[in-house]
Amino acid sequence: MTTEVKIEFDAKNMPFRRLGPSGLRVPLFSLGGWLTLGGSVKGDPVKDIIKTAFDNGINMFDTAEGYAAGKSEEEIGRVIKELGLRRTDLVITTKLFWGIHPGPNSMGLSRKHIIEGTKESLQRLGLDYVDVIFAHRPDQTTPIEETVRAFNFVIDQGWAFYWATSEWSAREIEEAHHVADKLGLIGPIAEQVKHHMLHRERCESEYNPIYSTYGTGTTVFSALAGGFLTGKYNNGIPADSRLAVEKEKQFKDQAASLSTPEGQAMLAKIKALAEFAETELDCKVSHLALAWVAKNPNTSTVILGASRPEQIVDNLKALDVIPKLTPEVLEKMESILGNKPAPLPTFGRPALDKFGRQY
Ligand SMILES: NC(=O)c1ccc[n+]([C@@H]2O[C@H](COP(=O)([O-])OP(=O)(O)OC[C@H]3O[C@@H](n4cnc5c(N)ncnc54)[C@H](OP(=O)(O)O)[C@@H]3O)[C@@H](O)[C@H]2O)c1
Repeated sequence: MTTEVKIEFDAKNMPFRRLGPSGLRVPLFSLGGWLTLGGSVKGDPVKDIIKTAFDNGINMFDTAEGYAAGKSEEEIGRVIKELGLRRTDLVITTKLFWGIHPGPNSMGLSRKHIIEGTKESLQRLGLDYVDVIFAHRPDQTTPIEETVRAFNFVIDQGWAFYWATSEWSAREIEEAHHVADKLGLIGPIAEQVKHHMLHRERCESEYNPIYSTYGTGTTVFSALAGGFLTGKYNNGIPADSRLAVEKEKQFKDQAASLSTPEGQAMLAKIKALAEFAETELDCKVSHLALAWVAKNPNTSTVILGASRPEQIVDNLKALDVIPKLTPEVLEKMESILGNKPAPLPTFGRPALDKFGRQY
């Protein structure tokens, strides 16, 4: 009988946080597969990227049924197997909504698609379960009770340990909790949300009531604004970058927007942030951007995206920048950003923290 050799996980200097109100611990930086794993990157390079992440303390991998029409799940599953990673060391998340087949019942959050979609995702991943299954978008066309019951069924089958949402409004998340509470079921533990220095409102304002009421965690995406916050687009579009490589309309539109007054204003802000990062913190703007999101107490994990292994190694230098983000530094940054969401109005009454204390 041969004994299977498994690679041991070494967390290195990666901090771990609980994912919302659950007992699940997630690394402060995780890795996602949108566009890259199974899309612009295939075969051995996928293995290099995942191995580099794992060797550097990242044991959480995020994908979705819709990423590269299922190929992202297939590639991630293949690599987990080929590298001999121990399942218990890993936190695997996938997302349902868009499906990969045509047809009226092949997408959305109906009981039918949630159950069939979960089974198909697990098949592509080659896994018995994922740790967290996300509703990739809200579905206005399915009763919320059906969706909550279906995700609970998936959990009861052992196909996922927790469920969560992505790009749901605070009202929609709240409604899911109300329904779950009423039925004695499990509500969503986290929200996968876009948050970066140029996109703040939802994470820093709209969700405040759900953080305090439900302890909702966040798995943050696009912390580098798809690469803009690396500064790589400051002087044109590099040939090997996402905006040059991806062919869909949204990326063509983004590329075209760079020459508009709004695009130019964004690039000017990124240049000012880059200068601040270099002179005040001795780091690159990308490190500052990632550390800034990680510093937020409502961030559970920052999902990195990478088209090559070196980007992961470089991005993890953000861990050294987090302690440098003192309240004074963060305040100085606000004068460059100029986009701090306004706190909820108190109409002249002093604001109190969640324990009722004045701050
Ligand atoms: N739930 C949702 O709706 C949703 C939406 C979007 C993303 N996500 C999740 O979040 C993950 C990350 O999203 P994202 O890819 O938009 O994140 P991002 O961190 O904003 O962008 C990642 C991209 O930036 C470039 N990059 C990263 N590090 C770099 C470095 N050090 N130097 C130069 N370029 C660098 C790479 O693109 P190039 O090298 O190709 O230029 C990389 O693919 C996704 O994989 C997915 O799992 C979820």
